[in-house]
Amino acid sequence: MSLCPRILSRQAPRALSTVTKATSRSFTSTQFRQINSSKPVATTSTQALLAEFERRSNTIPAPPESREHPMVGIAPATRENVGQKRFADFDLRGRVFVVTGGARGLGLSLAEALAETGGYVYCFDREPGAGEAWDEASRRAEEYGGFLQYRQQDVQDSKGLDRTIEEIADKHQRLDGVVAAAGVQHLAPAMEWTREEANRMMDINYTGVMMTATSAARQMFKYKCHGSMCLIASMSGSVANKGLLSPVYNSSKAAVVQLARNLAMEWSPIRKDGTGGIRVNCISPGHILTPMVMKNFEEVPGLREKWESENMMGRLAQTSEFKGAALFLLSNASSFMTGNNLVIDGGHTAW
Ligand SMILES: NC(=O)c1ccc[n+]([C@@H]2O[C@H](COP(=O)([O-])OP(=O)(O)OC[C@H]3O[C@@H](n4cnc5c(N)ncnc54)[C@H](O)[C@@H]3O)[C@@H](O)[C@H]2O)c1
Repeated sequence: MSLCPRILSRQAPRALSTVTKATSRSFTSTQFRQINSSKPVATTSTQALLAEFERRSNTIPAPPESREHPMVGIAPATRENVGQKRFADFDLRGRVFVVTGGARGLGLSLAEALAETGGYVYCFDREPGAGEAWDEASRRAEEYGGFLQYRQQDVQDSKGLDRTIEEIADKHQRLDGVVAAAGVQHLAPAMEWTREEANRMMDINYTGVMMTATSAARQMFKYKCHGSMCLIASMSGSVANKGLLSPVYNSSKAAVVQLARNLAMEWSPIRKDGTGGIRVNCISPGHILTPMVMKNFEEVPGLREKWESENMMGRLAQTSEFKGAALFLLSNASSFMTGNNLVIDGGHTAW
């Protein structure tokens, strides 16, 4: 563990013993006892320890302090968009996005939302080609001045992700955000999972999201694009849903919610050189009628009726019911929101 020099200079030497406790593994037991004893610590050894803190702090990068470079660059000016046109904060004209899992289901609906407000949206999916639903969405998008483009890209292929996202950013000289929606589900009791199966699911649902976000962040830093990312988690990341045996899926979604907080901490502040300024949030949907869920219904008789009875609205969601949330998160409309998780589940987890 290392401490940022700024934190150290604020806290030392008053709180040196507290700070040292947290980093005790970095010191010999003699040094540790010396610092935590009630006797005053000799000035020379304190200085030596401070020097050691400084040295280590300089070798391990720390996120910038948010108050040093507040996100003024992405805060709307006081009079901006007031009474000029309808909800200009949601306008995405000319902005460039990547949506993973964008061939169908939730990913496709969210991609369409961004294109409907003028965004240029690249849908990544492992499928060799997009289907009819994607073709229709792409036709509709053009009516609104945006577009959908399809790229076969597996999120488990990190080098490919890097390459494809770089190519897109270089072409447009920008990248404004990402929706990471690629995911898989598999129902099985915990004791039936093999290591390989569990790793594979985590590799898509968690590591795939992480690698998508980092590939995109590299380009957003390169072009100094202040933008936004939306990671698709699930209400199953916060609760164990009754009647659904999916221990690994649920854990992978909990990991995504936590990932969003950490990426937000690293990337939200704008640095001195203008990089950063990337907000990161999650959407945690309840049960939606998508191909993934229709497969669950085939596997477990009566599951649909059970799920319908378990939220306050007595029905399952359509993918289109998440478009507004994605548009909110990817646009200026949510310019003060980062590190958070929007739970949209028809009240499923509220009772
Ligand atoms: N359907 C629900 O009820 C529900 C609820 C909460 C969260 N979610 C989440 O929403 C996201 C979309 O789910 P959906 O229901 O639309 O599922 P879906 O199966 O209909 O769509 C998922 C898409 O991701 C793609 N994909 C899977 N693995 C991939 C990989 N390795 N690389 C690239 N693409 C890959 C699939 O080909 C598919 O097109 C998932 O992350 C899912 O966990 C779904």
